Amino acid sequence: MKGLVLAGGLGTRFHPVTKVVNKHLLDVFGEPMIYFPLRTLATAGVTEIVLVTGDEISQFKRLLGDGSSLGVRLEYAYQQDPEGGIADAIAKAESLIGGDRVMVVLGDNIFGDDLTPFVESFKAQDKGAKILLKRMGPEEARRFGVAVIEGGKVVRIVEKPAEPPSDLAQTGCYMYDDRVFGFIKTLSPSARGELEVTDLNNLYIEEGTMTYDVLSGWWTDAGTPLTKLRASILIAHERGIGTEELNPPYR
Ligand code: TTP
Repeated sequence: MKGLVLAGGLGTRFHPVTKVVNKHLLDVFGEPMIYFPLRTLATAGVTEIVLVTGDEISQFKRLLGDGSSLGVRLEYAYQQDPEGGIADAIAKAESLIGGDRVMVVLGDNIFGDDLTPFVESFKAQDKGAKILLKRMGPEEARRFGVAVIEGGKVVRIVEKPAEPPSDLAQTGCYMYDDRVFGFIKTLSPSARGELEVTDLNNLYIEEGTMTYDVLSGWWTDAGTPLTKLRASILIAHERGIGTEELNPPYR
């Protein structure tokens, strides 16, 4: 199984900073955001990784090189259209992933869990895909794709629902079998002009080969100023920084 980290996009929610810096190079508690998804893959035993990004590719190469400082073997793929969509970004890695299975992690997603058990259960699956879900309240779930589960199976993902049909939101980790690139070729751009990962996932759901697992630890995206701050606080806590140290005495 190979890994794929997606670090393209426009990052408009961090404008104007991201007019000149790729979002995934911004810091989360003192480290570049991109370190976290790379470490998540490495910890799960997925060490052959392709990083997909746009025009800032040379900056990623300068920062990460061959990946050895993070214990991974890194290759790079270029996504020309920063708004091509997540499925378009995945497609750019086709020649480097070859005929292997692939574990995709969005470059702005930060996982508290060790994902090894989920990787192992996907490896035991004879074909199909797997998504990782996180339980959350309706206010939060509205920002994500929300899974409808029936008879132990994902039957539908509803994008950013006003009334979430469950408390299980889709995180930015997706695992696919070697048919994924063929499936992406059948997709058409959505109304917003992107090749959508939800459309890709729906192909596996319709086939009945989509499985899911629910995370037990913390998880957050870091794609907005608020959630990036939250991510920094979570990492700080994980590294033993107490709440007193995070609450300034000068208030
Ligand atoms: P988003 O957060 O949906 O998009 P964005 O990063 O462009 O940010 P904004 O909405 O603020 O403009 O993207 C989710 C992740 O997927 C993020 O880590 C970047 C990645 N991505 C790509 O690599 N290529 C793409 O074409 C898109 C749309 C996203």
